[in-house]
Amino acid sequence: MMVSHRLYWTLWMLSCFGQYSGQDLQFPEPANGAVGESVVLAPDKPPSTSILVIQWFFTNTPIIRVVSGVTTVNSAYEDRVRLDINTLALELQNLTLGDSGIFRLSVTTSAGEIRSGETSLQVFEKISNVRLIGPEESLIEGNSSANITSEGTGIITSVEWMKDNSPLSPSNRIIFSPDNRSVSISPVQRSDSGEYQCTYRNPVSSETAKHSLIINYGPEEVSIEGPNVVDLGVRVSLSCSANSEPSASFIWRFNGTDTGVTTDTFTIEKTDFTHSGDYECTASNSEVVEEEVEEEVEEEVEEEVEEEEEEED
Ligand SMILES: *[C@@H]1O[C@H](CO)[C@@H](O)[C@H](O)[C@H]1NC(C)=O
Ligand SMILES: *[C@@H]1O[C@H](CO)[C@@H](O)[C@H](O)[C@H]1NC(C)=O
Ligand SMILES: *[C@@H]1O[C@H](CO)[C@@H](O)[C@H](O)[C@H]1NC(C)=O
Ligand SMILES: *[C@@H]1O[C@H](CO)[C@@H](O)[C@H](O)[C@H]1NC(C)=O
Ligand SMILES: *[C@@H]1O[C@H](CO)[C@@H](O)[C@H](O)[C@H]1NC(C)=O
Repeated sequence: MMVSHRLYWTLWMLSCFGQYSGQDLQFPEPANGAVGESVVLAPDKPPSTSILVIQWFFTNTPIIRVVSGVTTVNSAYEDRVRLDINTLALELQNLTLGDSGIFRLSVTTSAGEIRSGETSLQVFEKISNVRLIGPEESLIEGNSSANITSEGTGIITSVEWMKDNSPLSPSNRIIFSPDNRSVSISPVQRSDSGEYQCTYRNPVSSETAKHSLIINYGPEEVSIEGPNVVDLGVRVSLSCSANSEPSASFIWRFNGTDTGVTTDTFTIEKTDFTHSGDYECTASNSEVVEEEVEEEVEEEVEEEVEEEEEEED
């Protein structure tokens, strides 16, 4: 009678094992960790009944085991694991790349049910030393090409490029390498001037490096502003401007003779008749040697009073 009773209990327990030994402890998404840091692996909902045995495994290697309040830690994990017996959360410290893998939690409730579940951990080296290497030589619009190459350490899962805080898109001039670690711009245009940012990411870290490009161009649209006809005995300024990177430098000529003035403004403190003639401004740019653009104005100094008398005649 006793024998058959025991057998009945064993069968009942087996059926419970069968029912509960599945993955009935659920975990949130797989965990990520960084080398040297710590991670907490916790099931969504620990069983509400009281628990006799808690065991955590790395694949099949026991990490920690708590039986009726007595804790045993695998010596390989000594000093770097912590278990919260209420939440069943395992904290693993000083992570190494070798900690990547499957972690399994198994508990036995006081009712004899075994519940288990597993989650995975992937440990990444943090990204560091990201830097950009760009062209050393000066870049001329329409003529030069520029390659910006990135470097960095750590496991990189994505590379993202921005220019002046907006995403940098490929085009027929802007080409990314297949691994996105370098970008080639050819030929460069003035709109390519700006700050390039490259961000390396992995699930546990990211790092951004920056590099600025200046595209040289011009001078273009050289023009002189100022009056063409001026009174006798007044102060007159002619101002020369040009669209240029770097800023243009100027040379002023009067009737074909160099005046020695190299600022953007040519000033006559007090006009007299000898100031009538042709004023010419030549703009040039220290980086773009070929292009020199000139603009000329004809200046006429007249005596106002005389003019009025003539008009009255
Ligand atoms: C974990 O890292 C800390 C600080 O980096 C160190 O002091 C400690 O000895 C390490 N523990 C183990 C078990 O490696
Ligand atoms: C463009 O490149 C060609 C060939 O290298 C050179 O001869 C020319 O001077 C360059 N033009 C400018 C504007 O730098
Ligand atoms: C940019 O890279 C491409 C391909 O790697 C190469 O052909 C080109 O010469 C490089 N240009 C510069 C300016 O370094
Ligand atoms: C490179 O970047 C583009 C968008 O910036 C992305 O669509 C593509 O998947 C990336 N390629 C690689 C190999 O990361
Ligand atoms: C400059 O040229 C103008 C026009 O050719 C002429 O009338 C004037 O006398 C010249 N002035 C000087 C100082 O050479």
